[in-house]
Amino acid sequence: MNEMKTFVNSSLGIIDSGVGGLSVVKAVREVFPVRNVIYVADPANFPYGEKSKEELLILVSPIIEYLTRVERVQALVIACGTLSSVCFEDFCKRYPIPIFDIVRPAVSEAAFVTRKKRVGVLATRTTVRSKRFARLFESLDNSITVYEEAWPDFIEEVERGAFDTPFWRKEIKTRLKRFTSLDVDTLILGCTHFALIETFFEQLLGDSSGLTLVNPARACALELQKALDTESIVESNSGKSEVRCLVRGDVGHFENLLRMFVSENSCKVRAFGS
Ligand code: SIN
Repeated sequence: MNEMKTFVNSSLGIIDSGVGGLSVVKAVREVFPVRNVIYVADPANFPYGEKSKEELLILVSPIIEYLTRVERVQALVIACGTLSSVCFEDFCKRYPIPIFDIVRPAVSEAAFVTRKKRVGVLATRTTVRSKRFARLFESLDNSITVYEEAWPDFIEEVERGAFDTPFWRKEIKTRLKRFTSLDVDTLILGCTHFALIETFFEQLLGDSSGLTLVNPARACALELQKALDTESIVESNSGKSEVRCLVRGDVGHFENLLRMFVSENSCKVRAFGS
């Protein structure tokens, strides 16, 4: 056997405020079915999108310390639009492991997809204030115009599992029309809560909206696939893998949401720190 091909630990650590990061867990499992995934959700401190960078760094540091020092994950995925927007660079400086965010891959994909050079972004208030999406578009292609909107009220409904109601269907259709009336042709679901319910958005938009959705969870998983060596993992894991969800907050509510959002569900859930 070729020793060079065996990793000591091939686990991937994924973090988010609540249920939204399951979109990244699903996308990562599609490209890496044989990797162990440890997902830490922090619903006790949801919503991250209403917090400052300083607050977020204090809240998230113990989670990253745990994943890097105790679980010794091979790479870390920041599956949260807000953390990706305001803390990504600090995390990269502090932790000497490969770290991936969801903003950069989404911006690259949107810049490639847009024909009219007009892109919309749905996100949190902290993400919009950070202007990270706008800065990345500017450095990639400064002919692209970006329209960002924060929808904190709807993010909360997704986290409660209560988003699919007649009221919200009508309201979201109205909000989406604001983008089409601005001649936007590409819309980034720039918060993982939106990425998780991509099919809900597709249904509301229908086939004739002229809007192409960019799912940052999938874009991020594809970037991971390019960056990490899959062959070695097959050798080291012998085809077996597991997903563990560690929840800082209400474990029962998280389990209910897991059943709602993940059809094939073999995730093991327990409290973070237990
Ligand atoms: C939130 O916690 O407010 C939403 C998470 C995100 O920004 O993706």
